[in-house]
Amino acid sequence: MKVTISHIKADIGSLPGHTTVYQPVVDAVDGYIKNNSSGLISDYRISHIGDDIQITMVHKKGTDNPEIHELAWNAFKAGTEIAKKVGLYGAGQDLLKDAFSGNIKGMGPGVAELEITPRKAEPFIVYMMDKTEPGAFNYPIYKMFGDPFNTPGLVIDPNMHMGFRFEVWDIYNGKKVYLSLPEDTYDLLALIGSKGKYVIKRVFTKKEHEKLPDENVAVITTDKLSFIAGEYVGKDDPAGIVRLQSGLPAEGEAVEPFANSYLVSGWMRGSFNGPMMPVGERDSKMVRFDGPPKVRALGFTLKDGKLNGPVDLFDDVGFDFARNEALQMANYIRRMGVFEPHRLPDEDMEYTALPRILEKLAPKFERIEDKGAQSEMKVER
Ligand code: F6R
Ligand code: MG
Ligand code: MG
Repeated sequence: MKVTISHIKADIGSLPGHTTVYQPVVDAVDGYIKNNSSGLISDYRISHIGDDIQITMVHKKGTDNPEIHELAWNAFKAGTEIAKKVGLYGAGQDLLKDAFSGNIKGMGPGVAELEITPRKAEPFIVYMMDKTEPGAFNYPIYKMFGDPFNTPGLVIDPNMHMGFRFEVWDIYNGKKVYLSLPEDTYDLLALIGSKGKYVIKRVFTKKEHEKLPDENVAVITTDKLSFIAGEYVGKDDPAGIVRLQSGLPAEGEAVEPFANSYLVSGWMRGSFNGPMMPVGERDSKMVRFDGPPKVRALGFTLKDGKLNGPVDLFDDVGFDFARNEALQMANYIRRMGVFEPHRLPDEDMEYTALPRILEKLAPKFERIEDKGAQSEMKVER
């Protein structure tokens, strides 16, 4: 019997800036689900990182189910009412439409859903990131499911040795491609290294997997808020679900990619490269330069539709080094101010004043008459 894990997240207001959630709003979202979910879901948890409220639900209605999506939408609406009443910053910011229309995708909230054949014990991790984009998952997901230096199970566990199948989305052109590892490793890396354009959407076991053939074992949100709304309305902070153990990455292999910091795009005004910092709930506010970009990992097991957990996995001394490394990287890169590669290239910035500046300066721009310099600059005459 199939079961679905649906993780849906939204920023519906924060304080004082885009810093952290407000407990009464979290309680309102929780209260709505508690009072309106009977017969729909078998269990749920509410959590948060930075300014994003996150709902994890378990049910039997499959992915993209209108009733499940509407439940989450209405819960965020209930939270938004409080956020507006008390005057939180950006109240309701990710609820881009006035009324629910059947599928929450494209309406602002981020969605990651896995329909699974549950095993005797079904361990999994929900990851949530703030102040970054879906491509921030490319590096750690590749390491978990593709890199034997991170996941020795790929070499020494006969149940993993055949590798995994990756579904990669080209989020600019609305296309997807399936690549099979280890055979297609270099093709996969050629794409996903370009993390603002190609994102890992799902990972599947192969048909030859003895315990769990052809199953979806990881999923990432790929909602690009800026494309949905046609203008900047907030960074598309991603979330993901990864199943664990017994022929899949062990819990330790699924958190190992975060033991060192790595650079992602996002941070202040969604326009800067900055270091990813793994945190537990206690460090999940976005303070320093609105960040730095952070990730939480919540560990669960699932049995008969009921969740055990979460365990706040990065609230552990094992990630102190990564946190310190992220701080050092933050100090280093922050000194560059508005210079690339701290600042993102023009086309990737979520905020830009450049078109206006260019318009203002257009009448003042003069042609460079130096012939030698012109040949170097490829000036067309
Ligand atoms: C980035 C983010 C923040 C805001 C910044 C400016 O994803 O949420 O860094 O971009 O605080 O916010 P506004 O424009 O709302 O003042
Ligand atoms: Mg926000
Ligand atoms: Mg956020």
